[in-house]
Amino acid sequence: MSQPDIAVLEPSVAALVPGLADAYRLHPVSSDPATWPAAARSARALVTSGGRGATTAQIEALPSLEIIAINGVGYDAVDLDAARRRGIRVTNTPDVLTNDVADLAIALMTAVFRRTYAAERYVRDGGWASGASIPLGRSASGRHLGILGLGRIGKAIAARAAPMMASISYTGRHAQPGVDYSFVPSLRDLAARVSVLIVVVPGAADTAGLVDAAVLEALGPDGVLVNIARGNVVDETALVSALVEGRLGGAGLDVFMDEPNVPSALLGMDNVVLQPHRGSATTETRTAMARLVADNLAAHFAGRALLTPVV
Ligand code: 8YV
Repeated sequence: MSQPDIAVLEPSVAALVPGLADAYRLHPVSSDPATWPAAARSARALVTSGGRGATTAQIEALPSLEIIAINGVGYDAVDLDAARRRGIRVTNTPDVLTNDVADLAIALMTAVFRRTYAAERYVRDGGWASGASIPLGRSASGRHLGILGLGRIGKAIAARAAPMMASISYTGRHAQPGVDYSFVPSLRDLAARVSVLIVVVPGAADTAGLVDAAVLEALGPDGVLVNIARGNVVDETALVSALVEGRLGGAGLDVFMDEPNVPSALLGMDNVVLQPHRGSATTETRTAMARLVADNLAAHFAGRALLTPVV
């Protein structure tokens, strides 16, 4: 049987799983389906990333599409309704990225309190060597941590933070059984109680804008916000104003509303640490994710059960 055609929006998967190019005919495509050649349009599978997802127009441009394999855990950028209507399967890559994303959340939190960005610039720019002074940072340990979204990654963050924090509270749709951390039903109440809030809730219609001006106000001028989830969970305009006006103490951000564009007001701030959506970006995790994408494709084309289905 001839090799299935696959449209590829996320080229890193083929680079990390060299066997993919032998098993399939891969067609790297841009995000604009109007530019896709006929061979790509005959694809039975689409490989994409969490951020790029699959739009209605992209799905419509692929009449033979059977499966969308996401190289990421988030599926908020995939039009799941369009996929369901056509019986197209969707897979993601949960679990394999949990540790790295949780590590980055802790790293961002610590970096904001300790002001490692400003301190590193002080070293690199010669401030230390020239004897210039640098302000003290603040302790990251011993604080009350709040987590918005105690799912797999949220729990991994809590497990890492537990030995260093005085207490951990969380909010989400409901209290979780068998969890020692205290559940606070209202996000605003949680923000008012904690000194650092880590956002790890999935991107979705009902989480968009959840961290609004009132939540940031409750976190306050000494509070720190860390977002490793999706940019649109936070009202970015309200976040920038709160930081510029000193109504929020600091932020560690891996995700943004309009990636790769970062609000210019954040670029020069010493109390803000910025990452280019790097939560899962390690060799180990990206390789494990790419293998899971490949394994899901292999299962689909062999008629076996998918390993990590979303739809
Ligand atoms: C990746 C992500 O940046 O898993 C997700 O949902 O956003 C990240 O792990 C991305 O999907 C890499 O391709």
